[in-house]
Amino acid sequence: MNVEVVSGSINEILCDTVIVNVFEGVMTPGGAAGVVDKALDSHISDIIRDIPDCGKYGKTTVVHTFGAIGAKRILLLGMGKESEITLDKVRALMAAAMRAAKKVHSQTVATIIHRASDKLEACQAVQAVTEGAVMGLYQFTYYKTTKNDNPEIKKLVLIEADTSQADAIAKGAQIGRSIAESVNFARDLINHPAQYMTPTKMASHAKEIAEQYGFELSILEKEDMQQKGMGALLAVAQGSAEPAKLIVLKYQGDPASQETIAFVGKGITFDSGGISIKPSQKMDEMKGDMAGAAAVLGAMRAIGQLKPQVNIIAVVPCTENMPSGNAFRPGDILTSMSGKTIEVLSTDAEGRLILADAVTYAKQLGATKIIDLATLTGACVIGLGTVYSGVLTNNQQWCQTIIAAAQQIGEKMWELPNDDEYLEQIKSSIADLKNTGGRPGGTITAGLFIGQFAENTPWVHIDIAGTADTDKDKGYNRKGGTGVGVRTLIQLAATLNKS
Ligand code: BES
Ligand code: MN
Ligand code: ZN
Repeated sequence: MNVEVVSGSINEILCDTVIVNVFEGVMTPGGAAGVVDKALDSHISDIIRDIPDCGKYGKTTVVHTFGAIGAKRILLLGMGKESEITLDKVRALMAAAMRAAKKVHSQTVATIIHRASDKLEACQAVQAVTEGAVMGLYQFTYYKTTKNDNPEIKKLVLIEADTSQADAIAKGAQIGRSIAESVNFARDLINHPAQYMTPTKMASHAKEIAEQYGFELSILEKEDMQQKGMGALLAVAQGSAEPAKLIVLKYQGDPASQETIAFVGKGITFDSGGISIKPSQKMDEMKGDMAGAAAVLGAMRAIGQLKPQVNIIAVVPCTENMPSGNAFRPGDILTSMSGKTIEVLSTDAEGRLILADAVTYAKQLGATKIIDLATLTGACVIGLGTVYSGVLTNNQQWCQTIIAAAQQIGEKMWELPNDDEYLEQIKSSIADLKNTGGRPGGTITAGLFIGQFAENTPWVHIDIAGTADTDKDKGYNRKGGTGVGVRTLIQLAATLNKS
């Protein structure tokens, strides 16, 4: 979809559908809706009176203009109460509006930039409008041989009323599009089945990104992992016929600085549980156990486009977790790259094993701060549901930077306690650590296991088990992978940007 910014009168824009907003309880349309209302002999006011709930949050009402203005149709977008509007609501509302516009066969759509009487800042509002539109229209159609859907929307026109802000608006649109397309890229990686999205495929996507944006790339193969002593990652990989890959992408946005942020993502392309095999019900969903990896690759794609002045390395361990005659077993004791030994109690607690070596490697590569994203624990889904991602950290300042970035961009994260008492649960009697701490506090002990490998390096772990996919369309998310984490990582890079 093309996105363009035009300044001009809303009544003159030629398009299939123009989106204007209606706030709950407001009977006389203001702003752009007011301008359209005038051109239409107050028919918008009539509709608002006639359909009292058309200002309700998320309600869409489509009316034809019969040639009275340039647009063929007007979509009245119910925004809810004006005092309650937020940027993230604008994202979700735009998604709903674009899907409704598509339903009535619109191919060109124009919209005002929803700023709620300037409550929202121009650049951020236009970014949110664009993000919502592009994320909300996402569909995964790769395997459909018949497309019985309405035609795609080809063009989104953002109508700029405030010409004094022209530069900020153009920039916001560009950033929003870049971010949303990167989210959609991550969603594709997640939604592809494991038979297609193998570690090898993940590596070739990383290679494409590296080539396109000039990142330094290295892919560690089994022999490289052996040479580096990555016994935890190798153990998880040993049961699979698909070769494991450890992807490293390097972006040097600030060569003069000693700081390097590591983005680490769990890339289990399929989690059967291994010998500690999972129940068959919903096991198909474990094709999405690489959503952390997808978030990191998606973010790197946007970072290649937006070029913030900050140094980032992406460290993405990718492997399947499969049962076989070669698989690792419960009871096995692994020597991780760090030298720490790990007693395996469940081969289904594999994410923390591959992340242990990835974090150690990130440190060896010079990471001064670490953030890891992982669909790590079912306990997180129980504890926080599908709304908030779980957070653990060894450094409050780094954690607050990340939670603030997440909040700015509309991703919800909740910190869980890091307390040494929890470490008792993952101490082994015959090795340094064991890979499960039992059910109590399962998200915390899993996170703190990874923290044992971060040691003194500031580290934040995000458990996205509940938020990485969704079973229904909701707001700007579509059924399937959500791409959660992509926006936070990009926003984080933007926050740390020096220029
Ligand atoms: N990938 C799973 C966690 C998961 C569960 C993600 C549900 C998304 C939805 C992880 O590898 C796992 O199996 N964790 C186990 C750990 C347990 C064996 C200590 C779990 O949560 O049951
Ligand atoms: Mn598992
Ligand atoms: Zn897993």
